[in-house]
Amino acid sequence: MAFFLSAAFVYVVSLVLLLLLGATRRRRRARAAAKTTRAAGQAQGRLMLPPGSLGLPFLGETLQLYSQNPKIFFASRLKRYGAVFKTHVLGCPCVVVASPEAARTVLVSRAHLFRPTYPPSKERMIGPQALFFHQGDYHLRVRRAVQGWLGPDALRALVPDVEAAVASTLRWWEGRRDGEASTFHTMKRLTFEVGVATIFGRGMPEHVKEELRRNYYIVERGYNCFPVPVVPWTRYSQAIKARKRLGAILSGIMSELRARGGGDLGDDDLLSTLMRCRDDGGAALSDDQVADNALGVLFAAQDTTASVLTWVLKFLHDYPKLLEAVKAEQMAVYEENDGGRLPLTWAQTRTMMPMTNLVILESLRMASIIAFTFREAIEDVEYEGFLIPKGWKVMPLFRYMHHSPEYFEDPHKFDPSRFMVAPKAGTFLPFGSGVHACPGNDLAKLEILVLVHRLVTNYRWQVIEPSDDVTYSPFPVPKHGLQARLLATTAGGAEEENGRHAPAVAG
Ligand code: HEM
Repeated sequence: MAFFLSAAFVYVVSLVLLLLLGATRRRRRARAAAKTTRAAGQAQGRLMLPPGSLGLPFLGETLQLYSQNPKIFFASRLKRYGAVFKTHVLGCPCVVVASPEAARTVLVSRAHLFRPTYPPSKERMIGPQALFFHQGDYHLRVRRAVQGWLGPDALRALVPDVEAAVASTLRWWEGRRDGEASTFHTMKRLTFEVGVATIFGRGMPEHVKEELRRNYYIVERGYNCFPVPVVPWTRYSQAIKARKRLGAILSGIMSELRARGGGDLGDDDLLSTLMRCRDDGGAALSDDQVADNALGVLFAAQDTTASVLTWVLKFLHDYPKLLEAVKAEQMAVYEENDGGRLPLTWAQTRTMMPMTNLVILESLRMASIIAFTFREAIEDVEYEGFLIPKGWKVMPLFRYMHHSPEYFEDPHKFDPSRFMVAPKAGTFLPFGSGVHACPGNDLAKLEILVLVHRLVTNYRWQVIEPSDDVTYSPFPVPKHGLQARLLATTAGGAEEENGRHAPAVAG
């Protein structure tokens, strides 16, 4: 029996080794073939498509992409074909790029040859005039206004609003039954409040904010649904109607601003900044253009920041030593502010929170909530001897680079200290790169810093059913949005210092 078992074992091991050897040879042959085809094409003065498979007619490789973890889909093809390969998904031929050099070409150095591209249903939902969907002069003009508004001066003035939104969100969480809530859901409340304060200023009446919130969430629910516009009860149709109502609410706000200010719109929010924006000939943006961009920014700012906030809280909970270090640096700020009686300042968030900053960077890398983006070639483009044909989509894979051992040692380990040394240029792109890179990155970081400060100096929290599972909504968040219980401590965390808290509790 023992003999048969060991013979069977040797047989299985040999078979596995042969298969692995075969796979390695196939991979080498495929790479060599890609090189030869490219060289042959170059010799004949023709450009070849990158290696890869376009799959079945019409379907392409969509079924393979959706029948398995997307990580495996991309990793297997990257191994087989290298960092640039072709595929066909969701009805579009596509070139996937996963090296910093290729991503830079598409997003930065030859960005003018690649336009942003989104499904028409999504454009309609956010608003077709929003800057994400545009290239050239119009994009530049709106982007300058948005970026200016999200620059250091505006953010410095926004710190008290962020602090107020954080304080009221945490009070809301603490006030739930047993202090229990989904962290993601709670963080979405916070990012909505901050988004509204940034875009519409401080003075928005509560009932208008409530109308805005109600319709915004209907749009959000329909955003990722299959678009069936003719059937009135689908989430998609409901969302389209809610989007129209949002347009009307914004129109009302703009009329009121004009009536109130005469020619002077003031300059304390993004909406008035957009309303004042002029082109070289002095023409203003239309109301639809202002509304699409204001709502577009609200949309871009919300779930992204809420997902990252949720991951930061999970990692702090899972790594108690890090939490201690973060808490120590936040307590120094708390004490400098007379035991939390003085407000936080922009300077404190920039200079006194280096450890918290490292945790944010590592959370952005680990979670990589924007795994990739899409562009479309506006003409035939040559890249490294390959042809990217006009009309094909191009997909830079951010998450793949963030999780590659080539750029980040031991990439699946949560290790904020790795960011004490700047990563190799172009390998860490949580906010994208180039002309469409995120203009809200500093605001997102500010929200996270203020939330962490308030949380660790005034509260402790306990994750219910800790788990490493991930849900996609559509951004990755910990399972069930990280259900957690929030409890107030004596201000400054005296309760923990007396050693009175239970073990699996963070903060
Ligand atoms: C941690 C949170 C956030 C992450 C990870 C994130 C990530 C990104 C990424 C990767 C892009 C580039 C997409 C592409 O190239 O196709 C982007 C664009 C954008 N983001 Fe963010 N974002 C975050 C928060 C925010 C916030 C708070 C705001 C505004 C207040 C914002 C506003 C925008 C806008 C307007 C664009 C489009 C820029 C353009 O097309 O020129 N984002 N974001």
